[in-house]
Amino acid sequence: METDIDFSQLKIPNHVGIIVDGNGRWAKERGLTRMQGHDAGFENLKSLAKHMLKRGVKVASFYVFSTENFKRSAEEVGHLMDIFVTLYKRNLRDFMENNIKVIFSGRDEPLPKKVMAARDELVEQTKNNTGGIVNFCLNYGGRAEIVDAVKKLAADGVDIANLTEEQFGKYLYQDLPDVDFMIRTSGELRLSNFMLWQNSYAEFYFPETKFPDFHEADFDRAIVEYTKRDRRFGMIKNA
Ligand code: IPE
Ligand code: IPE
Ligand code: MG
Repeated sequence: METDIDFSQLKIPNHVGIIVDGNGRWAKERGLTRMQGHDAGFENLKSLAKHMLKRGVKVASFYVFSTENFKRSAEEVGHLMDIFVTLYKRNLRDFMENNIKVIFSGRDEPLPKKVMAARDELVEQTKNNTGGIVNFCLNYGGRAEIVDAVKKLAADGVDIANLTEEQFGKYLYQDLPDVDFMIRTSGELRLSNFMLWQNSYAEFYFPETKFPDFHEADFDRAIVEYTKRDRRFGMIKNA
């Protein structure tokens, strides 16, 4: 399917953000439970992440659980937390074999201890890997991140009067380059609190495909679309 794409002609975004969405609706369409939808979605995430880095993406940020998602039923939240533990534990070897560095963005509270332990172990083990970064936005909120950055600035006694954007960016959960390309699956046209600061100049892409069905070839099609975008950053080009 992807053989007709000439990848040497494509622009590869440095940092891709993905809002993992549509697991529940994907399951409903098939008469399955929302939990089964999440199982399918997170199974897909592993192969997609590897594929993205193979294409030359340097940072892949996956929005997998928002601060607001704690408002869902205890059954669903519990199932998702179990998935994260499994995902982080079972795939440690796979991340190592693929030289992938795994990092996280988000708050600790009220994550279960077992999730934080699996998270911390994965971060520790993969910290020296150099084959690209997977950033899990887990218990993440864009506004919470900005508020937390301000608190850290205050605690450090930073000279606010002379604060620069660059300096502020270093106080976010992770010191990452801006998002170049933001993909939200399942046809929803909103950010839902995802990387508000980092998405400032990102190109947005909203495929109808629900996340469990968003595979390697769909990502390649997204990159073809990204290549066509004219990123101007406020400048007049070709004048
Ligand atoms: C995204 O799928 C997964 C998470 C939010 C963790 P949803 O659960 O939001 O699926 P829909 O939007 O209900 O289809
Ligand atoms: C956003 O998806 C959060 C994640 C994908 C982790 P939601 O499905 O929770 O967002 P809304 O409620 O449709 O805005
Ligand atoms: Mg959703």
